[in-house]
Amino acid sequence: MVRRQLPDVHELAQLMRFKRPELNAKKRRLDAALTIYDLRRIAQRRTPKAAFDYTDGSAESEISLARARQAFEDVEFHPDILHPAENLDTSCQILGGTSALPFGIAPTGFTRLMQTEGEIAGASAAAAAGIPFTLSTLGTTSIEDVKAANPHGRNWFQLYVMRDREISYGLARRAAAAGFDTLMFTVDTPIAGARLRDKRNGFSIPPQLTLRTIVNAIPRPWWWIDFLTTPPLEFASLSSTGGTVGDLLDAAMDPTISYDDLKTIRELWPGKIVIKGVQNVEDSKRLIDLGVDGIVLSNHGGRQLDRAPVPFWLLPEVVREVGKDATVMIDTGIMNGADIVASVALGAKFTLVGRAYLYGLMAGGRQGVDKTIDILATQLRRTMRLLGVGSLEELKPSHVTQLTRLVPLSRAAKEAAEAAPTRRGATRSRAQAPSASKASAEDAGNPRRSTTSRSARA
Ligand SMILES: Cc1cc2nc3c(=O)[nH]c(=O)nc-3n(C[C@H](O)[C@H](O)[C@H](O)COP(=O)(O)O)c2cc1C
Repeated sequence: MVRRQLPDVHELAQLMRFKRPELNAKKRRLDAALTIYDLRRIAQRRTPKAAFDYTDGSAESEISLARARQAFEDVEFHPDILHPAENLDTSCQILGGTSALPFGIAPTGFTRLMQTEGEIAGASAAAAAGIPFTLSTLGTTSIEDVKAANPHGRNWFQLYVMRDREISYGLARRAAAAGFDTLMFTVDTPIAGARLRDKRNGFSIPPQLTLRTIVNAIPRPWWWIDFLTTPPLEFASLSSTGGTVGDLLDAAMDPTISYDDLKTIRELWPGKIVIKGVQNVEDSKRLIDLGVDGIVLSNHGGRQLDRAPVPFWLLPEVVREVGKDATVMIDTGIMNGADIVASVALGAKFTLVGRAYLYGLMAGGRQGVDKTIDILATQLRRTMRLLGVGSLEELKPSHVTQLTRLVPLSRAAKEAAEAAPTRRGATRSRAQAPSASKASAEDAGNPRRSTTSRSARA
């Protein structure tokens, strides 16, 4: 029998301590966000559809991005138990300097279109967090203004080599003069990928007012007020044509860029040079052999070639082939600090975040970017602690298994053939396999474990 008593008024009073309501709406909004996906939802509510879709979308059927995110979600972590890590050090050395966290802000074009604070919010948030900020060639804030927003921190400049070489090289010279320490040469954009959402939305630079945009603007008045009451978007390198971003890129980009351009860039850039958009082992080896300071395995957040290789899948093999001392960095699909931990464990020296930063920006300007960095850093620290590691150097491939859903047909067929003891058995195993990936996984004795399993690599 449960004994009952009259409620004690003092006990009741203690339970009734109400939190003071947060009157600042932006802070209230951002405080409620626990994940990058939460920031994405806020961003979507606050940003006109065309600008949100330009950011959120990728190319063609958007398969590259979905696969890249899925690859991170399919990570299995292996903690080391009874391995106390009292102090946690998340800092790293990257490209001749320090970063307080193993990620930086990726270059993004047209950033002030997403939210008016744009690159200034990104650069100043990066400065406060002690991480690098990368300004895009297609940025909407000048090189000098970004430097002023992050005067003592690390600024990197992303270079597109355009048809008009002098515009590109002139920007690089200006970035060097302003003290940017790294040049990131993007090589995956000979032409624009097919961003179908932009076409469907009739998205143009600068934005055009149509009946549809006006209806869409009604619940998002602040974006339009910001847009109309702040200085117009200025592009350092492009003249706005009223076309889509794809039209602009196609007019500006040179599909004939080659290794010769890399030679020229080396002559004009005094700092570190990184190649962004590397997507296979051979190119990685060639670039490292040529002496570049680093490579970024990236498919441009899925915005260029759809069904491109997943950078996270490439990572272990590239690190094995170029050597663990080479600076291999990675982006595309990072939505959680644990994705960064998994990348570092598999040999990445650094990572970049694109949309995670932009969702924060659209959700709340500078404070929203702070929130993005805070969410990723909190997830990263928690994952490291739960894994039993105290520093990034302690992260090892044995902490991570990459589980697979999709397996190349040739490998699956080979494994199925090897596993079949007799001709009859082989026939049966093929007949039972509804798909190549299922056949391979079942033959491996585990429904989802990849061939690069913990035991194979440990
Ligand atoms: C809206 C947007 C604009 C981008 N603009 C550029 C750019 O100007 N130059 C560049 O090298 N990469 C650009 N990227 C690619 C990012 O630098 C980065 O590779 C990508 O966002 C990483 O994937 P994630 O968004 O999943 O983090 C852009 C990405 C987005 C989402």
